[in-house]
Amino acid sequence: MQWAYKHIFNCHIITAVRNSIEYPHRQSLYYLKDIKRCFATTKDEPTDYVRNQSLPTTQIIHDPIGAQTGMTPDDWMKRWENKSKIIRWQLIDVHTFLKKYVPSSTTHKRVLVPLTGKTIDVIWLVERGFEVIGVECSTLAVRELFDEYIGEKKYTVESRSPTCSIYSAYENRLMVFVCDIFADELNPSLIGGHVSFVWDRAALTALHPMDHARYIRKLRQLSERNAQYLLSVYWHPESPDQGPPFAISTERISELFPHDKVLQLDDIDAKSERWADTTFEQLRERCYQIET
Ligand SMILES: C[S@@+](CC[C@H](N)C(=O)[O-])C[C@H]1O[C@@H](n2cnc3c(N)ncnc32)[C@H](O)[C@@H]1O
Repeated sequence: MQWAYKHIFNCHIITAVRNSIEYPHRQSLYYLKDIKRCFATTKDEPTDYVRNQSLPTTQIIHDPIGAQTGMTPDDWMKRWENKSKIIRWQLIDVHTFLKKYVPSSTTHKRVLVPLTGKTIDVIWLVERGFEVIGVECSTLAVRELFDEYIGEKKYTVESRSPTCSIYSAYENRLMVFVCDIFADELNPSLIGGHVSFVWDRAALTALHPMDHARYIRKLRQLSERNAQYLLSVYWHPESPDQGPPFAISTERISELFPHDKVLQLDDIDAKSERWADTTFEQLRERCYQIET
């Protein structure tokens, strides 16, 4: 019996270490903390901790909302591996709303592009004089972005912590943080100060409604008090928990930004071939400007 406990325990440690290497920007700290606790509490006899607690496995959940919604970064990483599902978001050109409504880079020097994916928008923003901060959980997406649009050897990769690495180019005028947008370590000091402009294209709308409030809190934490947000979101007539993309109505925007000045700038038909196999009867892409 004692051997069985030890064997199971060792397997969990091996799994935890392997996971912390394979998924460096997700949960590793939690695996490592658990390993430490196991070592601290386990001698020859199986302890109460080993008997009663869930040991570290790939199923360890540190994100209660993600666990309920099934929309964790791990799910998105799988989407990136299985490109067919992600490809409809991916544009080959700079987004029309961004080109039309971008503010001047002299008034808004630093821009945050949350849930960056591999959008070419970040390159366009750098070329227009902005300092760009991206945040994306998929290393695959970020590596493709840098390899395809910037080129090998023209960028650097720094591992900041077991759960965060930073891809930089253009003399650090483009920095993409590969981590969970909800990670505590993602704070103004990590990204080198507050931003004054946020370009959210298909970010809020990609997150489950249960994640919206904490996402807005994170935007506020990372941006200056009078920052400007430009949001490109989808709307469809399905229920709000049908997605992604999750439908964002004008009422929802007002609920999420009750004390800010909200302006709807655009509203276009987005039902095209790329969304043809979805059940959405209508799909609109809308642009909102938020003055915080
Ligand atoms: C719908 S895509 C939009 C990508 C990009 N903004 C664009 O316009 O092409 C959403 C992206 O968010 C990333 N993502 C989802 N949840 C995340 C999280 N919690 N933290 C960081 N990135 C996340 C996904 O990997 C995916 O690349």
